Amino acid sequence: MAKNSDLGNAKTAKKDEFYTQLEDINSEMVHYESQFKGKTILMNCDDPTWSNFWRYFHMEFERLGLKKIIATHYEYGEVPSYKMEYEGGNDEDFEVGLRTELTQNGDFRSPECIELLKEADIVVTNPPFSLFRDFIGILIEYNKDFIIIGNVNALTYKEVFPLVKNEKLWFGASIHSGDRKFYVPDDYPLNASGCGIDDDGRKFIRVKGVRWYTNMDYSARHKDLETTYMYSKKDTLYPELYPQYANYEAINVNKTNEIPMDYDGVMGVPITFFDFYNPDQFEIVGLTSLADTMDKPVMLGQEFVNMYRSQGGTGHFSTNMYGVWYIDNDGKAVKPYGRILIKRKAGN
Ligand SMILES: C[S@@+](CC[C@H](N)C(=O)[O-])C[C@H]1O[C@@H](n2cnc3c(N)ncnc32)[C@H](O)[C@@H]1O
Repeated sequence: MAKNSDLGNAKTAKKDEFYTQLEDINSEMVHYESQFKGKTILMNCDDPTWSNFWRYFHMEFERLGLKKIIATHYEYGEVPSYKMEYEGGNDEDFEVGLRTELTQNGDFRSPECIELLKEADIVVTNPPFSLFRDFIGILIEYNKDFIIIGNVNALTYKEVFPLVKNEKLWFGASIHSGDRKFYVPDDYPLNASGCGIDDDGRKFIRVKGVRWYTNMDYSARHKDLETTYMYSKKDTLYPELYPQYANYEAINVNKTNEIPMDYDGVMGVPITFFDFYNPDQFEIVGLTSLADTMDKPVMLGQEFVNMYRSQGGTGHFSTNMYGVWYIDNDGKAVKPYGRILIKRKAGN
């Protein structure tokens, strides 16, 4: 009989099984075209019989001036998988390539796949979201360029955010809001909202909060964020607009489009700011839910409450989480949802 954990794993595995559309790949890759020339691209979560990543790079091989493309994919269980390689020519049929059997199951962490990773210059794929931490981990370990799909929340993982802070990873160019359509296998459980069957009878799901993650530069990320808000005019807007945190030296900003253009100190802004982040304009100081990414110590939990109470504060709030608080006009402690701490760069 299957153990509970096996069933759990099978469920997670099934949820990881959704396939990127060609048009989404196209819209992103167009931003890096000049950087593909002479490069070997590895797609290490991609079965070449259906992957649109494989299809895209196979189709565009000559135009992009690629050196080689390699695809590997995972066979559930201990079944050996294979690798597919293509070095150009005869490109009408995207199934053309050199097929070589692997002795292992194609897990991107397996020694055989790590050897292919070493050979590659750029990794482009949509990896299993459930293994995102491991996936990013090996890309960083082997110092590879990458353009991959993940969930927006992965930004706040303790394994990922330090990379963000050190400018080793950022969002890609083409997805900044809404959801994306992904095809799923026929036996995919279609009980989630936003799923359906298209005109060709293919099942799809709509996945919210999807982002491209990359460490390759593109021009659109150097565009300044501009808003109409000014810290110096806050009293004419509304006085409570930018409260100072009580336990960290920064002001709170509730919406990205309310980031003041004239404030030089640290600001706590919503995570969605990252969709507009220009590294020439702002630096990332930390993440409020990850105290050890912050440059200065933050007064935490009970320590903050004690201070607050000793000053006569009466608000009610939970103490079990890291984060920043401010005190509103009624003397109540308010803990905003996770905030990225940012600071304007000098001269901007
Ligand atoms: C989100 S799907 C995307 C598939 C494909 N890259 C695409 O974009 O259409 C993630 C894929 O990773 C595969 N996968 C799961 N675990 C894996 C592992 N350990 N190593 C490599 N691939 C894995 C799944 O079988 C699944 O096809």
